[in-house]
Amino acid sequence: MTINKSKYGTTPDGISIDCFTLKNKNGVEVEIINYGGIIKSIKVPNKKGVIENVVLGYDSLPQYINGDSYLGATIGRFGNRIANGKFSLDDKEYTLALNNAPNSLHGGDKGFDNVVWNATTKSDENSVSLVLNYLSIDMEEGFPGNLNTTVTFTLNSENTLDILYEASTDKKTIINLTNHSYFNLSGDFKNDILDHKLQIRADKIVPVNKNLIPTGELVSVENTPFDFRSFKIIGADIDADNQQIKFGFGYDHCWVLNNQNEDVRLIAEAYHEESGRVLEVFSDEPGVQFYTGNHLNGTHGKRTGFCLETQHYPDSPNQLNFPSVVLNVGETYKSRTSYKFSVK
Ligand code: BGC
Repeated sequence: MTINKSKYGTTPDGISIDCFTLKNKNGVEVEIINYGGIIKSIKVPNKKGVIENVVLGYDSLPQYINGDSYLGATIGRFGNRIANGKFSLDDKEYTLALNNAPNSLHGGDKGFDNVVWNATTKSDENSVSLVLNYLSIDMEEGFPGNLNTTVTFTLNSENTLDILYEASTDKKTIINLTNHSYFNLSGDFKNDILDHKLQIRADKIVPVNKNLIPTGELVSVENTPFDFRSFKIIGADIDADNQQIKFGFGYDHCWVLNNQNEDVRLIAEAYHEESGRVLEVFSDEPGVQFYTGNHLNGTHGKRTGFCLETQHYPDSPNQLNFPSVVLNVGETYKSRTSYKFSVK
């Protein structure tokens, strides 16, 4: 197992950015940059042993700085939407940037995807880790509390990339961290992802209004395009005549994962038959935003990648029936998601 560091670029403020390459004995390779905590590539074999990248990325740092699709990025302080960019804690109202009008999305104007993280590395016989740390100061992007966040990316010899998120605050705050990788297991990004098979271990979704803000109900997937309880081709119902599908321009919804009382468990599995590649996603989170890249355009075509963003439900700070996203002083926020790659 090795981890190598190389210079990747320089930010407009003159900060040098590095690219870390984590590699295991099977030739699996993960590149991560300390700008935005961005996973730049994940190279894994297909069933013939050909190693190819399976996540969308850009070539250069300026593209990441100027891009608006959050490719591969660490998302914080709050993944997903907060209605009208407002929430309250202890009767005090906080206001966030409306960077996805009329809502706040993925941490605001300069979220964790656009900051420089401090990087250290560690390794042992069976794994290599990149440890990224970022101190977000009190009221940065409108969020209360100095939030000290550590994200540890670990690649092991079983072809699993594990992401551990940890954070603590000195004032009561809210938090919802995730990763925004777009997967395309074909390894050829000219192909869309509609032919991938997917299973999501969820009996319900969080329906939304036209602004993609939850209505507050949790609705069964039965007899809807959202039923991925058994493996289904992503493209099968993606353009179905269904109000929720129309609101999302395809899939852009949060699934209410089963077995929330368990810790880390298998929550979703994707399979690309032609390449034989399999992706299993494990997480301790209550939800997963399945987003089919409906708004990708330019460098990457529409629906050429899908995201499985493990997280709490959208707009949780304003939805009192949803699992809490409050982080109190003295508590440690902990969340874990693993992506395991194999072939069949
Ligand atoms: C959201 C989409 C949004 C995308 C931006 C996803 O997490 O659910 O609505 O367009 O991020 O890349």
